[in-house]
Amino acid sequence: MAMTMSTATTTAALLKPMITTHRFLLLQTKRHASIITQQQRGSLVVAISVLQTDHYCQKLVDEFDPNIPIEKALTPPSSWYTDPSFYDLELHRVFYKGWQAVGYTEQIKNPYDFFTGRLGNVEFLVCRDDDGKIHAFHNVCRHHASLLASGNGQKSCFVCPYHGWTYGLDGALLKATRITGIQNFDVNEFGLKPLKVGTWGPFVLLNLDKEILPQQEVDNTVGSEWLGSCSELLSASGVDSSLSYLCRRVYDIECNWKVFCDNYLDGGYHVPYAHKGLASGLELNSYSTTIHEKVSIQSCDGGSTESEDDIDRLGSKALYAFIYPNFMINRYGPWMDTNLVLPLGPRKCQVIFDYFIEAHLKDDKDFIERSLVDSESVQIEDVVLCQGVQRGLETPAYCSGRYAPAVENAMHHFHQLLHNNLKE
Ligand code: FES
Repeated sequence: MAMTMSTATTTAALLKPMITTHRFLLLQTKRHASIITQQQRGSLVVAISVLQTDHYCQKLVDEFDPNIPIEKALTPPSSWYTDPSFYDLELHRVFYKGWQAVGYTEQIKNPYDFFTGRLGNVEFLVCRDDDGKIHAFHNVCRHHASLLASGNGQKSCFVCPYHGWTYGLDGALLKATRITGIQNFDVNEFGLKPLKVGTWGPFVLLNLDKEILPQQEVDNTVGSEWLGSCSELLSASGVDSSLSYLCRRVYDIECNWKVFCDNYLDGGYHVPYAHKGLASGLELNSYSTTIHEKVSIQSCDGGSTESEDDIDRLGSKALYAFIYPNFMINRYGPWMDTNLVLPLGPRKCQVIFDYFIEAHLKDDKDFIERSLVDSESVQIEDVVLCQGVQRGLETPAYCSGRYAPAVENAMHHFHQLLHNNLKE
């Protein structure tokens, strides 16, 4: 009850100055109506509204104090997981900045290969041109904004499905149909808008905040910028391009993207209660977590029974690397799977699982099928957990929780990084 009162009081305290300021500024706008135009008034109201939203979001950000040690800290308030304006702030400050994993190199292995995707409101297109060079663009036609390509596959050029404008794999506008009579139009200025693209190991990454020139080379500094000092550690742990890509599974989950990340980052806390099948294959007493700049690595010994004719899915050691903000690399036994958590709204996300296996096992259909069934059952258990947490976060009964200090330090680190990112 005390929590509920406190939340209501905080919200009221936040809203009151905003509403008062809004009224005052609207009044001022009215008084000056004779000297400013209708359009200027509209712009002023929009500007005020943006400022108020920003101010409101910063208050929400500050409701979590990253400097309080984990033993005493409260978890971020439920508004971080439910508020639409907070979600918008995250898109701009967390996802539209820095390197973001978007796919794997196998998807653009050969010339003419391409794939498309969406991150927040950004529609992107990644392709390999006939010279083998990788490009990435906003997947938006420069004529009337139609999405240009969809899905993945092979193309020698991209023809807009709307009016047929055609672009090369380097993004150049090759053909603008039926534009006779157009003036002040330079075809060289209407190529696809480029995005910064890089690769590390088997992964393709985009950096949406870096302005680039159309012909800029693929970025090779991505490893150190994305992973910091963990780049070598992950390579040495078998996260590399020698693995064979197998398949993808996609889960749409009714929860905020951070609920899925938090679940991943609890140091195995929930495993013995919620994943009894998985727990039986792990030595949970050996669970440990190490924290790096933007990466946390959880590891656990497996109860491997591996022999010549009995391959264990989990092997002798499982490694779970979380790369801030939304990418997980799981390396266990002969397997690697990655989990890409895409935010789709304040209470919705999509998690893409991509599975890789050591090359010598890629034709072992029985083992692969068995492993995927086991893995899927863990995912389904997690979906139920995450959706239950989201519903709990939306009730008036809950505002903030506490950390279990001995196991949830990776989660605390995640929230500290978020706070740092969201702060002005
Ligand atoms: S919107 Fe693409 S050609 Fe018209």
